[in-house]
Amino acid sequence: MQQIESALPLKAQVKIENANSKSITRYDPSQRIGKLIVGNCVDVMRGWPDDMIQLTVTSPPYDKLRDYKGYDFPFEEIAAELFRVTAPGGVVVWVVGDRINGGRSLTSFRQAITFQEIGFSAHDVMIYQKKNTPFMRSNAYTNAYEMMFVLSKGKPKTFNPLKIPTQRHGYELLTHNKLPDGVNKKKLGELKKEKTRTNIWSYAVGLGGTTRDKIAFQHPAVFPEKLAEDHILSWSNPGDLVLDPMCGSGTTGKMALMNDRDFIGIDISPEYIEIARQRLSDLGLSIKSQPAI
Ligand SMILES: C[S@@+](CC[C@H](N)C(=O)[O-])C[C@H]1O[C@@H](n2cnc3c(N)ncnc32)[C@H](O)[C@@H]1O
Repeated sequence: MQQIESALPLKAQVKIENANSKSITRYDPSQRIGKLIVGNCVDVMRGWPDDMIQLTVTSPPYDKLRDYKGYDFPFEEIAAELFRVTAPGGVVVWVVGDRINGGRSLTSFRQAITFQEIGFSAHDVMIYQKKNTPFMRSNAYTNAYEMMFVLSKGKPKTFNPLKIPTQRHGYELLTHNKLPDGVNKKKLGELKKEKTRTNIWSYAVGLGGTTRDKIAFQHPAVFPEKLAEDHILSWSNPGDLVLDPMCGSGTTGKMALMNDRDFIGIDISPEYIEIARQRLSDLGLSIKSQPAI
């Protein structure tokens, strides 16, 4: 196994644009630790103690749909190691689509069932809806989504629900129990200002949607940074350790570090790790290479 590690001593407060293009000031990440490791994630995780990761946000190769420069993808072993290194109450978010060639491969479901069989709770099955560039089919409806399996080791320790504003709020006469006499009773009640989002999340994809970091598109399958950020905010707290064992262009890492979490990213491809390193460095984060641990 080749294992080159980059440590990211993060010095400055960084201003970045989020996917909604609002300029926001993030936490000062000077206390945060970021690491990028080249290697097969199974081999790397095998060197770690149990229960050390609070949250994993990752996306595996989909049925060899794309050419990832010669990877080895031992799914069952990866799943077992992820379960071992996840802390009790920790969460793994597994973002995956199926190959569609004639019919759907259903690999995503097989993987989800394996996760459940080895001990994860299938806490939720969420949908990542793509607002644009959906996959057209001549004999089926246009495919515009992927799965986001939210797997927990026991009951999730952290859930910070993301909210959206409600259409109407304030006090209104609301319909009360309709009794057998058929008369609608009205009662003054409060409509809340916001409500918890549903488990279908929609994101624009492509440059400007997925990310504004041009360098990220040197990787063939980047997921939206807002998707990573929304999961990080939901299932972890500042100071937690976030993992992406197949980190590609480093999307999860960027959003973890920007949100005051520590991060470890692994990828089997040195070229993709270099993209991730460069991407974080382009944000003004200073990056030092270190010998392997
Ligand atoms: C779908 S991409 C991840 C993209 C990433 N979410 C992003 O936003 O850039 C899957 C990645 O898994 C990596 N990979 C495949 N098998 C691996 C393994 N056994 N260990 C580590 N990385 C692996 C590939 O090199 C590829 O970069």
